[in-house]
Amino acid sequence: TGCFTFDPGFVSTASCRSAITYIDGDQGVLLYRGYPIEQLAKHSSFQEVAYLLMYGELPSKQQFDAFSHEVTHHTMMHEALKSFLNGFRHDAHPMAMLCGVVGSLSSFYHEQLDMDDPEHRRLAAIRLIAKVPTIAAACYRYSIGWPVRYPRNNLEYVNRFLHMMFEVPSEPLELPPVAAKALDLLFILHADHEQNASTSTVRLVGSTGANPYACVSAGIAALWGPAHGGANEAVLKMLEEIGTADQVGKAIEKAKDKNSGFRLMGFGHRVYKNFDPRATIIREMCHKVLDELGVHDPLLEVAMKLEEAALKDDYFVQRKLYPNVDFYSGIIYKALRIPTEMFTVMFAIARTAGWVAHWLEQQSDPDAKIGRPRQIYTGADSRDYVALAKR
Ligand code: CMC
Repeated sequence: TGCFTFDPGFVSTASCRSAITYIDGDQGVLLYRGYPIEQLAKHSSFQEVAYLLMYGELPSKQQFDAFSHEVTHHTMMHEALKSFLNGFRHDAHPMAMLCGVVGSLSSFYHEQLDMDDPEHRRLAAIRLIAKVPTIAAACYRYSIGWPVRYPRNNLEYVNRFLHMMFEVPSEPLELPPVAAKALDLLFILHADHEQNASTSTVRLVGSTGANPYACVSAGIAALWGPAHGGANEAVLKMLEEIGTADQVGKAIEKAKDKNSGFRLMGFGHRVYKNFDPRATIIREMCHKVLDELGVHDPLLEVAMKLEEAALKDDYFVQRKLYPNVDFYSGIIYKALRIPTEMFTVMFAIARTAGWVAHWLEQQSDPDAKIGRPRQIYTGADSRDYVALAKR
């Protein structure tokens, strides 16, 4: 009973008003605060994009320097967090660790957080942007048994992260410039995507007034699934399983067979019924990275064949299934020596910028209400309890 609109998966329900990101899925358009993703990808940096998402405008030089300084000086994680890491099994998935450790930040910043004070909220957002990469790199190093590396505050965001991941004592880390450039680009492209499952989760948890670190931890949990951020890891595993370009035809047939339980990972999108503009940019960067690093990865050939075959196949054409952001990103991560289990963590680092922007927007929205969907009840009618002995 009840007069509700039944909209499973919220395909046609707007849950909020937002001025952050605009998508036109039919035209393949993506704008952050009005700026086309192609222009940001070409000219901006992840740190600047994080500012843009959070504050709504591109920063002046002075604003940018102040923002970077502030983010840089919140990059340390509390030493006590190392004990959290030590509690995980050595083979824990880094997303499980990230989700737990980021959630635990709420225990460090709860009492002093006045949720009604915009400055306190802003500081929580800065802390998240600053600390998530540190925690992510720490999770990785724990998983391979290396000591955690402190953030080097003389480096900017992406380089700092790569150093925390790979640097060993007394050995300068030689990073080809294309590595930081490619990672920065991937972070820009993953920074926000309006009301996707993880951002909606952050907002839903945020709507109850919960601590922002708990909200972002919930977002990380939502991102983990293979239908969402976990797809980048799933794509690489799929490409490895397909193995060689001559096996692509079989994979396509299997993806079309509904009984196979197999989908082409990195293909299709709830909103894009055209090329995902991010996929086009990533594909170009993928070629550039492999060229500049002199890497020959046969998986790129498999990916290209797969894309070509799918785009010619009626099944994919009729359903408007195109490569999405995750299709080529894994090949880039792999070339940068980032292990497959860390791919979704990379996505989480970037998406933290979007999550906190949405959380801040929601917290200052006078129309925001607790999220409380209704349901269509399909259970039993009212009936009388039967004593255990009589059942
Ligand atoms: N391979 C084969 N068939 C597919 C695929 C795919 N990747 N994606 C959708 N379909 C079919 C689906 O079976 C359905 O067919 P039919 O109409 O005959 O029942 C039709 O296309 C529509 O699919 P849907 O599941 O109703 O669409 P959705 O909007 O609910 O799902 C999606 C979107 C992204 C979850 C889905 O396309 C998918 O599972 N893709 C693979 C996973 C993936 O790459 N996810 C990353 C998304 S982009 C990054 C992010 O936002 O996190």
